[in-house]
Amino acid sequence: MAVSATAKQEQPRVVLSARGLSKSFGAFMAVKNVDLDVHHARVHALIGPNGAGKTTVFNLLTKFLQPTAGSITLLGTDITKTPPDRIARMGLVRSFQISAVFPHLTVLDNVRVALQRTNGLSTQFWLPVSSLDRLNARADELIESVGLKRERNALAADLSYGRKRVLEIATTLALDPKVLLLDEPMAGMGQEDIGTVSNIIREVAKTRAVLMVEHNLSVVADICHHVTVLQRGEILAEGDYAEVSQDPRVRTAYMGTEEA
Ligand SMILES: Nc1ncnc2c1ncn2[C@@H]1O[C@H](COP(=O)(O)OP(=O)(O)OP(=O)(O)O)[C@@H](O)[C@H]1O
Ligand SMILES: [Mg+2]
Repeated sequence: MAVSATAKQEQPRVVLSARGLSKSFGAFMAVKNVDLDVHHARVHALIGPNGAGKTTVFNLLTKFLQPTAGSITLLGTDITKTPPDRIARMGLVRSFQISAVFPHLTVLDNVRVALQRTNGLSTQFWLPVSSLDRLNARADELIESVGLKRERNALAADLSYGRKRVLEIATTLALDPKVLLLDEPMAGMGQEDIGTVSNIIREVAKTRAVLMVEHNLSVVADICHHVTVLQRGEILAEGDYAEVSQDPRVRTAYMGTEEA
């Protein structure tokens, strides 16, 4: 499905869940007994101080790391033992890892390469013209949906940093994920790009689940329906942003003495 301004908000239901998820590195437990439910049509934030275990949780969910204990279910299937290369095909895609932007290709060609990969077309050297047309139409649709129409024929290398990240998101969406994992999608971006990417995420989440690690709390307050706070590998609090940000334990542990 295209990400379009008219995409209807769908009903939330659990699409990705973890129970008792734990990961040890030697004697050190980076993730301890984490339960997580990620819902369709919702933006879920995973926040917490540096070293809390957020990226490790992402690595466990995408099976990049094998959990020491616990289980993971994706769209009703137990994926605890599923190898990582199968996860993306099952609909769980992590941005800025699986997708890569090729600097010497145009925006259009970057998206086309991503689409070809999804459709398994890259292994075929002969293709009916009609399938290429369909690919081009889908590429243009994706480019337009993320607001890169003007840069369609520009080389990826010539895009600003923020636009490159937007292109990365477009190549991720080409894989048509059911669940999208974003690790600090706003990192290093200016205010204008943050606004653009926030709008894209909000739109994307109308027909998908999004789980994102984000340090920018005004972004979390603005676009996330649900927040899970990790501290030293454990869940400290969860709820919507208003609840979590008022929790004294969160204020002490995560925000220190600063006002949220
Ligand atoms: N492969 C590894 N081997 C050993 N320790 C690790 C490994 N990966 C992560 N850790 C440790 O696990 C803890 C959690 O790290 P993680 O990267 O998940 O934190 P994070 O919440 O993503 O932090 P940040 O906000 O800085 O990105 C840290 O103490 C880290 O040093
Ligand atoms: Mg991290």
